[in-house]
Amino acid sequence: MARKTVQPEDGVLVVQNLTKRYNSLLVLDNISLAITEGKTTVIIGPSGCGKTVFMKHLIALERPSEGSVYFKGQQIDDLDERRLAPIRTKYGFCFQMGALFDSLTVYENVTFPVRQHYKITDYKTLDELVKQKLALVGMDGFQNYHPASLSGGQKKRVALARAIALNPEIILYDEPTTGLDPITSDIINELILKLQKELAVTSIVVTHDMRSAYKVGDRIIMLHKGRVIADGDADYIRNHPNDIVQQFIHGRVGEAELAALRLGGTRFETQFTPEDFE
Ligand SMILES: Nc1ncnc2c1ncn2[C@@H]1O[C@H](COP(=O)(O)OP(=O)(O)O)[C@@H](O)[C@H]1O
Ligand SMILES: [Mg+2]
Repeated sequence: MARKTVQPEDGVLVVQNLTKRYNSLLVLDNISLAITEGKTTVIIGPSGCGKTVFMKHLIALERPSEGSVYFKGQQIDDLDERRLAPIRTKYGFCFQMGALFDSLTVYENVTFPVRQHYKITDYKTLDELVKQKLALVGMDGFQNYHPASLSGGQKKRVALARAIALNPEIILYDEPTTGLDPITSDIINELILKLQKELAVTSIVVTHDMRSAYKVGDRIIMLHKGRVIADGDADYIRNHPNDIVQQFIHGRVGEAELAALRLGGTRFETQFTPEDFE
């Protein structure tokens, strides 16, 4: 058995020797790390490198091929859905694909997780809760709007309000600024910082937006070929000696990819998708 490099109680979230395969595709390769409570940890890396898959393991939406995941010392990767339900109420998540429900109003979107987990009897308190959460993200007053009438940035803010509806201890953000212009992105970054300060949550942010990573991250972890290749604060990452890290943070194409481009038609080692260039 592999040597255990971290212990379950080393952080609020701990992954121990986490490996994930989809058939023959190795996505995560023996990752061990502990996430510190109350801090913002950013996961970076090129598209397709396994950031979303990694994040999903933190909330047991994906199960490891090998290894384990702990929330506050409790192993969660082997729990069934019924046992996971109360644990998931401690998480808020803003996922790339977890957009707002278009047929629901802003109010209904924000109350959705509350209704999912609790039987509502006190509508006045619910109204107050929605008002308070929307106010935190600067969207109070939009309760009766439908997502279709909101801008991209406003939708993200409502998604954030929904993520904090159950007063989570952990917030998971998957590409929170993708598809937003730089100014709107910065508003979202500020909100991530604000929520961390005001709610004292532990945040995990998956992104390939380096501006966002430097701004919100107490700690930045870069994934490459299923492994952690850099792990430290913004200065550490900026000055990292590894070429792959430097290429990524400066948005340069690596030699191997360039060679593949010149050959034409050769598969990239990492997949770039149109969203990388938005
Ligand atoms: N459910 C799945 N079944 C098979 N392959 C998957 C599945 N989910 C993700 N993958 C693959 O795992 C790799 C990492 O995906 P992902 O974590 O989404 O990357 P990203 O870093 O862009 O978030 C990709 O090659 C993707 O195609
Ligand atoms: Mg992703």
